[in-house]
Amino acid sequence: MSTRVMPSVRPLRDRPAWRALEKHYGELRATHLRELFAADETRGERMVAEGAGLYLDYSKNRITDETLGLLEALAEQSGVADRIEAMFTGERINVSENRSVLHVALRMPRSASLIVDGVDVVRQVHEVLDRMAAFSDRVRSGEWRGHTGKAIRNVVNIGIGGSDLGPVMAYEALRHYTTREMTFRFVSNVDSTDLVEATRDLVAEETLFIVSSKTFTTLETMTNAHSAREWALAGLGGEESAIAKHFVAVSTNAEKVTEFGIDTNNMFGFWEWVGGRYSMDSAIGLSTMLAIGPERFHELLAGFHAVDEHFRGAPFGQNLPMLMGLLGVWYGDFFGAQTVGVMPYEQYLKRFPAYLQQLTMESNGKHVTLAGRPVEYETGAIYWGEPGTNGQHSFYQLIHQGTKLIPVDLIAFAKTLNPLGDHHDLLMSNVFAQAEALAFGRTEQEVRAEGGPADVVPHRVMEGNRPTNVILAEELTPWTLGSLVALYEHMVFTQGVVWEIDSFDQWGVELGKALAVRIIPELKNEDEPELHHDSSTNALIRRYRAMR
Ligand code: F6P
Repeated sequence: MSTRVMPSVRPLRDRPAWRALEKHYGELRATHLRELFAADETRGERMVAEGAGLYLDYSKNRITDETLGLLEALAEQSGVADRIEAMFTGERINVSENRSVLHVALRMPRSASLIVDGVDVVRQVHEVLDRMAAFSDRVRSGEWRGHTGKAIRNVVNIGIGGSDLGPVMAYEALRHYTTREMTFRFVSNVDSTDLVEATRDLVAEETLFIVSSKTFTTLETMTNAHSAREWALAGLGGEESAIAKHFVAVSTNAEKVTEFGIDTNNMFGFWEWVGGRYSMDSAIGLSTMLAIGPERFHELLAGFHAVDEHFRGAPFGQNLPMLMGLLGVWYGDFFGAQTVGVMPYEQYLKRFPAYLQQLTMESNGKHVTLAGRPVEYETGAIYWGEPGTNGQHSFYQLIHQGTKLIPVDLIAFAKTLNPLGDHHDLLMSNVFAQAEALAFGRTEQEVRAEGGPADVVPHRVMEGNRPTNVILAEELTPWTLGSLVALYEHMVFTQGVVWEIDSFDQWGVELGKALAVRIIPELKNEDEPELHHDSSTNALIRRYRAMR
């Protein structure tokens, strides 16, 4: 029987390593990366870690060997190793919802077994994967026919949050591997424009909707699903029986799926121990599997699994997620950095920062400890980013010369999937140049030596000392994508353990949802409603009713 797990560790600020880090920060904060590199010629080869196909250069961080030792001690004193085992063995580490957290089981190989509450969850996972594969093969080959006998050419995933961001990101990231004979669209926003624009050039006879929702109660998704149903019926002659061929569901809630009118034979399940933002490799990835095929989907899972094994087994100094997690704590809690930029130098990863925003911020944007006490330190950073070179011509100015410290992850690949002239060398030169410029900047002396008006010198000086991680992989494949996502999942986990927070709940999104439900009738009522909100909300509602 799995148990609810509360760690027995000292409060964060009382841990000896934390105290030592406070003192160490005082000593190190004025040290420049220029000095650290000058003092150790091997730094750039030494402060690297490699695992599961990913190479991490963390040498351009404001750390010394002492910092690393203290961060490792902090991980130990925070019980990171025990918590990893607790997660991998299905203990209920999501304490506020009393749930196991088992996304790692989603990518365990068929030969593995993990018994939780008497059930082999790995067997369950592979049963669903097999059903997804059989279905995907039928749709991709044209064997699955729509109501009028036509093959499916368009797939529209309807979902939001974790039931959307993973699928969209994976589709864009793996576009190179997708079947180009089919069109994939993703509808998430309850703003009708999203659904209308996604379907306007599609033919219902050739369109399959995947309604993806863990709970199958989410307002946005259910509203879109009902409108999509109307759209499909209108294009299919209005026969209810047509729905079965054009709607499938991905959910944990069979009852609600049936209520919606989707046959549970056309439902692909997952389990409450898969958090929404950790679900792109569950049945929520059905659109991904339809796009890239089952074999490639299994490659994706293998990439995830490789990082799971790495995270569980690699020593601290080589453990990519732990290093990145602790570096995040170092900047957020000691340097006061509020945000982290993630810049993929890979066009296919254009939605990766958006995906990471939910993963990191919904997980670690927490204000109380597992025991419910207010935290006395900073928790999750704000994550943001854009594909690299585009960002350079937009907001990088602030990273280089602004007054805020913004640690940045630069993600790049040695090989491009679309070789074209010298594009890739030019792209990669920017990765290395940005990391170099951010770290070392340009001194006043260097600027003066270049000549030019004296009064412009201060404007051209670049302080440098801006930290980066460079993550390098060989090529963007389904496997590498899986490993990259798992890297960030476990980075988030590591930080959550250190901060002693629940990285797997999201109570903060509930209030807004509940208030919206209360306001809906006040907007829809024909008669002027009696309003009992604050004066601002009341006035806005009245103004909206008058203006629409
Ligand atoms: O509003 C937040 C949230 O609960 C996310 O955590 C989740 O990914 C999303 O809503 C969608 O939920 P569901 O898959 O149940 O529709």
